[in-house]
Amino acid sequence: MSFRLSLILLNVLVIGGLLGVIFWRVFSLRRSPESTPANLTPFLADEVLEGRRLERVLGWTLLFTVITVVTLLAYFLWEPFRGVEMEKLFLERSIDRGATLYANKANEGYDAEFSLLCADCHGPDGTGGVALFTLQPEGDECQLKKNKNNPEVPQCAPNQVQWTAPNLTLAPLRYSRAQLIDILTYGREGTPMPAWGVKSGKGPKNVQSINDLVNYLESIKVTPEEAVKSAEAAVADYRQAAEDLVDNGESDGERAGLQVDFEEAEAALLVAQADPTTSAEELEDLQSAADRLEAQLAQAIAYRDDVEALSDGGVLFRLNCARCHTKGWSYFENDPANIDLPPLPAQGSGAYGPNLTNGSVLLQFPGKAGKANQTTWVTDGVPEQGVYGLRGISSGRMPHFGKVLTKAQIRAIVEYERSL
Ligand code: HEC
Ligand code: HEC
Repeated sequence: MSFRLSLILLNVLVIGGLLGVIFWRVFSLRRSPESTPANLTPFLADEVLEGRRLERVLGWTLLFTVITVVTLLAYFLWEPFRGVEMEKLFLERSIDRGATLYANKANEGYDAEFSLLCADCHGPDGTGGVALFTLQPEGDECQLKKNKNNPEVPQCAPNQVQWTAPNLTLAPLRYSRAQLIDILTYGREGTPMPAWGVKSGKGPKNVQSINDLVNYLESIKVTPEEAVKSAEAAVADYRQAAEDLVDNGESDGERAGLQVDFEEAEAALLVAQADPTTSAEELEDLQSAADRLEAQLAQAIAYRDDVEALSDGGVLFRLNCARCHTKGWSYFENDPANIDLPPLPAQGSGAYGPNLTNGSVLLQFPGKAGKANQTTWVTDGVPEQGVYGLRGISSGRMPHFGKVLTKAQIRAIVEYERSL
């Protein structure tokens, strides 16, 4: 039996006992009224009353006073610990609720009624994933009704893309609590990230659930040391992936690079051309497959060479900043060889975050102190409505990187940005 339950039982027993005594007194008095009134019965002598009897009563009073004082003191000393324990307990429960909200079927806390399936996009362990997203064509001609869903105008067809959903174990290192609450409440327009808060007018969740989610994110965050280590590894991985896209050293199967895929397609075409039984239709299919791979390969080679020529600052920019400062990066990056997508605009030319190219950061962070000011902005930022650079006012939406990148990495990124 828990301590709490035993206290409740004790209280019930005491109250029950008191009620019992009261009833008993009332009924027994009614049944046998006293024969002599109390004020007429002979009582103790004054010596006894003012001596032994008084001392006994005073003794009891002292004892109960001491018990009261000791109990109050114990309560006073114990209460802060109890408070802390309760806060911990509340936080644990909140994190549990957050975990359930976050979960999908792959998670332990999944609940078909409550879970919001964040894990579908951000991964069951929160380390990131992809979200399917339909890109609507944006060109002016695509707004015309006759060009919508018209196979003659392929550039106006919607594109299904895989949008990178960020690693959330880093998010609490990059964002303040208030920023996380805003992101979850309002989502991010024009991306797969939905709004979850009632306050946004679009989401289903109240403030408590949003807080539960933020507490859960805080509970799965990595340490700054781990974050910095993974940022370093990510640069090498990024370069490797660009090379692998063209040629990953494997010689067969789908996992070989596009170089091998293209060579195989060409070989198959040659064999088919030499074979008189091949139908014209088959030949055409093989030809178009080879042409497509050739175009993809050319794109992948251009991409690989571009990455090879890029400074570490440039790679770090793509991994940490391009998501907001380069329109389309989040889906292009997953599939640079996808020739059906509209071409990626210049790096840093602006999307959710402002355009950083054509020297615009040099205007915002000018002069001798410019580089240092820009580094401080990227590292720590300023609170919402605070001033940065020459005439920047922070909207509180940009994450800051002092806990996830080293000083040297941030300097390299700033150097790169100033060259855009
Ligand atoms: C349909 C897919 C999808 C779902 C579901 C989803 N997200 Fe996202 N989320 C994204 C994408 C994509 C982004 C990045 C948007 C961008 O490119 O700017 C994002 C961004 C975020 C960010 C900002 C991270 C950063 O580093 O900028 C947070 C925090 C976040 N999501 C938390 C959540 C939580 C918590 C849930 C569940 C309540 C959730 N997301 C559900 C796709 C999703
Ligand atoms: C989640 C989106 C997001 C990411 C990721 C992001 N930024 Fe930003 N950035 C913004 C927004 C939004 C602004 C506009 C300022 C504001 O709203 O506070 C901004 C502003 C800036 C500015 C000032 C530009 C100006 O002219 O005022 C610089 C410089 C900058 N970002 C650099 C970076 C760097 C470097 C990184 C990566 C290390 C990065 N940003 C990552 C959203 C982002």
